[in-house]
Amino acid sequence: IQGGFLTVVVLGASGDLAKKKTFPALFNLFKQGFLPSDSVQIIGYARSKLSNDDLRQKIVGYLKAEKNALQDGESVTKKFLNLISYVSGAYDSKEGFVQLDKAIQSVESVENEGPDSSRSTRRLFYLALPPSVYPQVSKMVHENCMNKHGWTRVIVEKPFGKDLSSAEELSKQLGELFTEDQLYRIDHYLGKEIVQNLLVMRFANRFFIPIWNRDNISNVQIVFRENFGTEGRGGYFDEYGIIRDIIQNHLLQVLCLVAMEKPVSVNPEDIRDEKVKVLKAVEPIRDEDVVIGQYEGYKDDPTVPDDSNTPTFATVVLRINNERWDGVPFIIKAGKALDGRKAEIRVQFKDVPGDIFKCNKKGRNEFVMRLQPSEAMYMKLTVKQPGLEMGGTQSELDLSYGERYKDVVIPEAYERLLLDTIRGDQQHFVRRDELKVAWEIFTPLLHRIECGKIKCLTYPQGSRGPPEADALAQRAGYNRTYGYVWKPPTLQ
Ligand code: BG6
Repeated sequence: IQGGFLTVVVLGASGDLAKKKTFPALFNLFKQGFLPSDSVQIIGYARSKLSNDDLRQKIVGYLKAEKNALQDGESVTKKFLNLISYVSGAYDSKEGFVQLDKAIQSVESVENEGPDSSRSTRRLFYLALPPSVYPQVSKMVHENCMNKHGWTRVIVEKPFGKDLSSAEELSKQLGELFTEDQLYRIDHYLGKEIVQNLLVMRFANRFFIPIWNRDNISNVQIVFRENFGTEGRGGYFDEYGIIRDIIQNHLLQVLCLVAMEKPVSVNPEDIRDEKVKVLKAVEPIRDEDVVIGQYEGYKDDPTVPDDSNTPTFATVVLRINNERWDGVPFIIKAGKALDGRKAEIRVQFKDVPGDIFKCNKKGRNEFVMRLQPSEAMYMKLTVKQPGLEMGGTQSELDLSYGERYKDVVIPEAYERLLLDTIRGDQQHFVRRDELKVAWEIFTPLLHRIECGKIKCLTYPQGSRGPPEADALAQRAGYNRTYGYVWKPPTLQ
């Protein structure tokens, strides 16, 4: 990558997110040559008193390298770890951030062969921190660590507030310090391969253009399932719940890409304009369009209050009041401690009018985009049962990435988004007005849940969630196919 010496500062360097996602993503970029040793440094910043080596020891276990992988004759892991140093300081201390700025400068100026201000440098701050400290940390970065010889960019992680007013407050605070083009609000679902493919798939294929509307589509489901509970994050999770954790951000972003109109161009601002437009057309959520649940045993976590009404599962039907989607329910479902782990988009088409094969048909046409695991896109369709008889059966046209793109390693979401930030591409990041509309959609519902107006149903761990949710999806128009299961092709 061109553009001068790059410093990546990971704030909250000893936390979970940094260890599990940020450093491994940086490592993957390093392995692929995107972070050349001679023009990059990585600095971890956190409160704990650690040496450079302590930090390296904390993260090394999360870095995956091919056995004995070398770069210029040296272990690739070791080379990467050598780029990392550590500064300790409080999140509200001027002293700490002055120290951090000095650490950045000392390497920048050596690498630039002396304090030569004519060469540009780049500074990327990654806030892998609890949101409560965002305002103070941003202020400290702004006051003490801004780059005077090139760009400064800041990556922030959700949760961006808890409801419309707290999110707006945070946006205002950040907006006073940084311009919108310096701020990268990360939603890692936007970095997933299949999510990124939505734009191409929808707008580069003649197949889809005429059928992607209310005349042909009966309903759309966007589903996220996890087969584990909140596991040690109970305290955090209980304050937020599944709607804030998954639906208001990840699944709503996916909805935007499924439902938005064609942007004027692939320019990030044109794309984000369309996302905002479709979000603005989402109708207020009605109580009868919501089922929330909590898995049995959730409250056994000592950090979760005994009377918690925080949902670990939710199905919410969203309705979009525009010319394309009027009358098409978008059934959004997310749950923890369910019977499997997967995320997918399922577009179900209407029945064939005047269907002469009705009696031996088992289901509707569906177009499924599987985000994970085993990335795939497949079209469920009725074909003649091969053989002497004329019966119909459900089959599929299948694009399974593992088969079709055998030699391609699909990048991790964080890896891709970090690279986008370094390149200055904001297409896959959430803009301030987008965030605001997303909160406008969910805030009234969240407040109704918080005051106990809507109550969680309990469901057993390892189940499909409360049966009432299936009933809601069915009422909304989803027609479940029985007796057909798509299986990811086995790899040779
Ligand atoms: C995070 C949520 O944003 O996404 C977690 O906070 C969730 O609760 C995770 O487990 C899921 O991400 P992925 O990429 O594993 O689907």
